[in-house]
Amino acid sequence: DKHTWFEGIPLLTELISPEFLSEEWKKFVFKEDDVLLLTYPKSGTHWMKEILGLIYEKGDPKWNHSLPIWERSPWLEFKRGYRLLKDNNGPHFISTHLPIQLLPKSLFTSKAKVIYVIRNPRDVLVSGYFFTSIMPVCKQPESFEQYFQWFLQGNVMYGSWFEHTLGWMTMRGKENYLMLSYEELKRDTRSTVEKICWFLGKKLERAEMNSLLKHSSFEVMKDNLRSNYTHAATSLAATLMRDSLMRKGISGDWKNHFTVAQAEAFDRVFQEKMAGLSPELFLWE
Ligand code: A3P
Repeated sequence: DKHTWFEGIPLLTELISPEFLSEEWKKFVFKEDDVLLLTYPKSGTHWMKEILGLIYEKGDPKWNHSLPIWERSPWLEFKRGYRLLKDNNGPHFISTHLPIQLLPKSLFTSKAKVIYVIRNPRDVLVSGYFFTSIMPVCKQPESFEQYFQWFLQGNVMYGSWFEHTLGWMTMRGKENYLMLSYEELKRDTRSTVEKICWFLGKKLERAEMNSLLKHSSFEVMKDNLRSNYTHAATSLAATLMRDSLMRKGISGDWKNHFTVAQAEAFDRVFQEKMAGLSPELFLWE
């Protein structure tokens, strides 16, 4: 089966690390100078990874262009990621798609900086549909409509977008937690990156910032062999993904794919599940 269900959450069987499914995992300790990137899949994770690397390298793309993206910011819950993190003392850039209840408890007492990126779930759904079709390790739907239903039911990798989002939003207000949206990053990349720099206590000169903006742009990332996964230097990526991770890189693509009935059905579920939250939090509106 493509999904391994763990505490009610479907995870990708082929990628998940055995440690994650054991007691070993709960002992993982986050360090004060770690930066943890949290996302529901397809919310702009890799874009943010590229940006974080460039912030720490002051806009110099050398590091981003020399290591594959999954080694620059390893995945906590995946086989290779967990090993990379354990074998090196850090500080680390760490990524995870896990829902809040599955994180090692040390996160909640550590001063590690947490960056949470949210994206319009309609675009997350469309992006996930196309991503699934290039990822043999994912469960394959027969149609867009079927994937649409799976998404609303939470029967896709990492479970329900709604529950995932409600969970991570409970960290709002903590000093070490920054919430951003894909849409604001897209609309005004420079100001949003400045906000991230401020959060991380970093300052970039004008030329450094311009270099960062260039190297984290959709076009450059699409061509960066170490970022787009397709032509990457290891066999891992070749078997993992059949096409580029950088597909379209825009906000609002759902309008090209949802039928009127799907848009209405989505709104109904959204309103029901997210009823308790202030609309201001939905930063894509
Ligand atoms: P689309 O499929 O809508 O194009 P993740 O990294 O969480 O898997 O998210 C992937 C999505 O982010 C894809 O969305 C991808 O194209 C988009 N993306 C990646 N790099 C980007 C960039 N530099 N600018 C804008 N969007 C980017």
